[in-house]
This record gives sequence, structure tokens and C-alpha cells, in this order.
Amino acid sequence: MFDRPTLAHALIPALPLLLSLTAALPAAATPAENDAAMLKLATDRGCMSCHSIEPRPKRADGLPPIAPAWREVAQKYRDDPQAYKKLTDTVITGADPQARHWSGKVGVVTMPPNATAISPADARMLVNWILVLVP
Ligand code: HEC
Repeated sequence: MFDRPTLAHALIPALPLLLSLTAALPAAATPAENDAAMLKLATDRGCMSCHSIEPRPKRADGLPPIAPAWREVAQKYRDDPQAYKKLTDTVITGADPQARHWSGKVGVVTMPPNATAISPADARMLVNWILVLVP
């Protein structure tokens, strides 16, 4: 009359326990969660007062943007395997006013050092994130 219990039948009573165990495991961040965490870091460290992620149209006063959009940065350095190192240094020490990388495209004030605002480890993490924001 009765079917022999299958593995599925045997596991059904244990389902609530199995589900609660899965819920208790620390979930790996999804790409969206990672984006949100990186954007929060950049905002908290003051980067977003000059930078944007998406390129911005000219400002209302006709002046160029203050700083390059990070999708433009990702595009400019997409074929440079050393970019993450160079750009981390630039973020920490500031952009060289004698050798601007974005002159003509952004305003005349260059990037000041950010060493007091962000640790080198966090700067590297942000730069690695910026570099994959290729449009
Ligand atoms: C006061 C405005 C300002 C702030 C704050 C600022 N930047 Fe910049 N950033 C600039 C400007 C201007 C440039 C373009 C420099 C140039 O022309 O070489 C730049 C360039 C960059 C570049 C590209 C550098 C290159 O050599 O091409 C990266 C990456 C960058 N910033 C990341 C950051 C990060 C990360 C932060 C926050 C820790 C930050 N910036 C904070 C103004 C700023």
C-alpha cells in the first residue's frame, strides 16, 4: 500500500531546521550590495563631492565638471594592468598639478591628497571598484 519513504520524504521534517541553518550563514554580498557599500565608502570619504559615477553634462554655468566621472576613469585605464597601483597612489597623494591627466576635460583645480580622508587599503578597494565601472 505505502510507498517506501524516499529521501525527499525523510528530509521534509528537517526542512525548517535546514532553512534556519542556511539563513544563519553569512551571505556573500551580491554585486548590488557591493556597489552600495562602495558608493557609501566613497560618499563617507568625500570623493563624491567632486566625482560622479556617470558622466555629467556641462554645469549650468557652462563650466566643465570638477572631476572625471568614474566610468570615464574606468574607460581611460581599461587596458592598463598597472592602473590600480598608480591610481591608488594618486588618490592618496593627490594628482600632480604639473602633469594633469584630465586637463581640458575637468576644471582647473586638481585633486588634493586624500591621505587624511581614506586609508591606503580602502583607497585600493575603491580604485579596484572604479576600474570595473566600464560603461
Ligand atoms: C576636491 C575634489 C576631489 C576629491 C574630494 C576627490 N577627487 Fe579624485 N579627482 C579630482 C580631479 C580634479 C581629478 C583629475 C586629476 C587630473 O586631471 O589629473 C581626479 C582624479 C581622480 C582619479 C583619476 C586619476 C588619474 O590620474 O587619472 C581617480 C581614480 C580619483 N580621482 C579617485 C578619487 C577617490 C577614490 C576619491 C576619494 C577618496 C577622490 N578621487 C576625491 C578631484 C577630486
